[in-house]
Amino acid sequence: MAQDASFVQHDKQGEVHVLRLANPPVNTLRTEIRAGLLDGLNAAKAAGAKAVVLIGTGRMYSAGAEMTEFGKPRVAPSLTEVFDAIEGYPGIVVSAIHGSALGGGLELALACHARVAAPTAQVGLPEVKRGFVPGAGGTQRLPRMIGPEEAAKIIVSGDPIPAAKALKLGVIDAIIEGDLEAGAVAWAKANIGKTFTLARNRTDKIEGQDPAAYDAVIAGLLKRSRGQESPKGCAEAVRASFTMPFDKGLEKERELFQSLVSGEQSKALRHIFFGEREVLRIPGQPADAKSLPIERLVVIGGGTMGGGIAMSAANNGVPVTIVETSEEALQKGLARCHANWERTVSTGRLSQADYEKRKALLTGSTDFEGTVAKADLVIEAVFENMDVKKEVFARLDKAARPGVPLASNTSTLSIDEIASATSRPELVVGMHFFSPANVMRLLENVRGAKSSPAVIATATEFGKRIGKLPVLVGNCDGFVGNRMTGKRGPQVEKLLLEGCLPADIDKVMEGYGMAMGPLAVGDLAGLDIGAAVRKARGTVAPVADAIVALGRFGQKTGKGWYMYDEKRTRMPDPEVERIILDVAEKMQVRRRKIEPQEILERLMLPMVNEGSRILEEGVAYRPIDIDVIFVNGFGWPAWRGGPMFWADTQGLKNVRDKLAHYAEVTGDANLKPTALIEKLAAEGGSFASMGA
Ligand code: NAI
Repeated sequence: MAQDASFVQHDKQGEVHVLRLANPPVNTLRTEIRAGLLDGLNAAKAAGAKAVVLIGTGRMYSAGAEMTEFGKPRVAPSLTEVFDAIEGYPGIVVSAIHGSALGGGLELALACHARVAAPTAQVGLPEVKRGFVPGAGGTQRLPRMIGPEEAAKIIVSGDPIPAAKALKLGVIDAIIEGDLEAGAVAWAKANIGKTFTLARNRTDKIEGQDPAAYDAVIAGLLKRSRGQESPKGCAEAVRASFTMPFDKGLEKERELFQSLVSGEQSKALRHIFFGEREVLRIPGQPADAKSLPIERLVVIGGGTMGGGIAMSAANNGVPVTIVETSEEALQKGLARCHANWERTVSTGRLSQADYEKRKALLTGSTDFEGTVAKADLVIEAVFENMDVKKEVFARLDKAARPGVPLASNTSTLSIDEIASATSRPELVVGMHFFSPANVMRLLENVRGAKSSPAVIATATEFGKRIGKLPVLVGNCDGFVGNRMTGKRGPQVEKLLLEGCLPADIDKVMEGYGMAMGPLAVGDLAGLDIGAAVRKARGTVAPVADAIVALGRFGQKTGKGWYMYDEKRTRMPDPEVERIILDVAEKMQVRRRKIEPQEILERLMLPMVNEGSRILEEGVAYRPIDIDVIFVNGFGWPAWRGGPMFWADTQGLKNVRDKLAHYAEVTGDANLKPTALIEKLAAEGGSFASMGA
């Protein structure tokens, strides 16, 4: 392929030539970039350049491979061909890194003779997070430069490291202050004629590596990724760096790459990776819909959620004031935020100086009207009660300046009804955070019937600004996530009656990859909350109701579905078993052994069916919106791809048949397959094909 000057700019500065990667925004190494680099290197060589500097234009050096090229026929030249040209260059090739060098981007830099970086740069190999191993020599070159154990830490975690650490470890050779390109050219010039041993030829850091010591480090690293294939693959690839010659190691890496990249876990991870970008593209939003400027946030209510929301704002540099009803409640709320930050300081993850900054951004007041008058955006997080919310919104409407958006953090109530208490329903929107709100990334923004494009743009942009992943959903009871998990409840009850104990159910879901099973989550959230919802809705759950009736509200009372010791270790409780057996006997349910597969299906299928209903209603725009919600707000492992992705892996015909079967045998009308599932099953379609 001919060199395309628009992708790689070639600039001759005497004996140093500069090749600038220009594939905005993140310089992925698409075919044109690879071809441009190869042509540029050949041209530099022909011109007799003694040094070549590779540098990125725009925000960064390079974010790595172009993932949209995955799974398509490979187009030459490959990265390996580019690396061969670098390693065979009769002079030195130096990478100059600013922003990030990630994945294939870092692998490109590792193939060079030397690397320099801006002080703010970071480097990393995040491939593990997409479900595969670095596939262009990263697992072989990095260990040769910094040793297998340090390399494994970087490659197995996938987390980037800052320039200073990269320098200390020996990933880069120098940090350049000031103009990076000028500095890198000067650095290259000064080093012309010096010998640099290419990573592939180095043995100093791998010689004498004790395999047992390596395996011990790996065992520690793999603890956090149970069930996942790619971290294991990364560890195995790095192991090859000191047990095999370089070229054999590369072959091993390629083998692992190929088998992982075509596997289901990698597909799931990439589905979520692209999905997290897709959800920000809101169908029907006019192109000119602009976010309103927000300088000061006011949060009404400094309880569990209000405090967490306020912390998220302060953590991201936004001045925020909490309004409470009494000085006592206010001080309690602020103290909880401070204590939370202090814990982070004590673990070393937050500096004292940053803590002081955050603390200064967070203020409190009991003057409702006076504070709200200064707000650019209000987020309400008072008690979950419609009368209370309407009263608060009527007051907000009077106190807030005209044009200021009013958001509610309600988790179940109708945004339209809340909006009806104001004279500005077009400026009312739901912003549903998840607990703990300063930690959880998901933000379900709820579009009311009258919400304007501007208020939706504001909720989206502001959510991003305070570190959240906003997913826009429609207005309905429970919105998307809670509505879907709610539909699982009746099956949990039935499973308990028919033969399971709480640990049987949680074990299956935790085995699937959830951080916690549904009953353990119930104990954490408080079983009284679900009981209150059932009471309000006039529904019953004989087993759960019997548990709550004994004052077993979960962790906060030391007992719930499990019993807990002082360290909150959960243990099965014979009393719970007795209650379950009692209720089953009273209801004349014959207990039997239930296989894990049945447990899994009966917990997944109600969610999938409800998810399809949510799609039919347009409450979620796309199946991917639902999957992103579960991964970011409900502890669903990204490498499983979410509930709708799960349904596709089962095949929708199979899903349809199983739903119909369980609807019949369990008498749960919610399990009757929806029209959408019937249609997709009949066409041989999938949720993924729907999005296309
Ligand atoms: P909470 O009971 O911890 O906090 C509510 C706070 O609001 C209290 O401190 C109360 O003093 C204050 N408050 C009540 N009326 C007020 C008024 N007129 N002006 C100022 N402050 C007032 O409740 P929590 O858990 O924080 O929930 C708040 C909202 O967030 C509810 O709508 C809830 O459904 C929603 N939510 C809760 C989640 C959770 O996991 N707890 C998750 C997502 C949403």
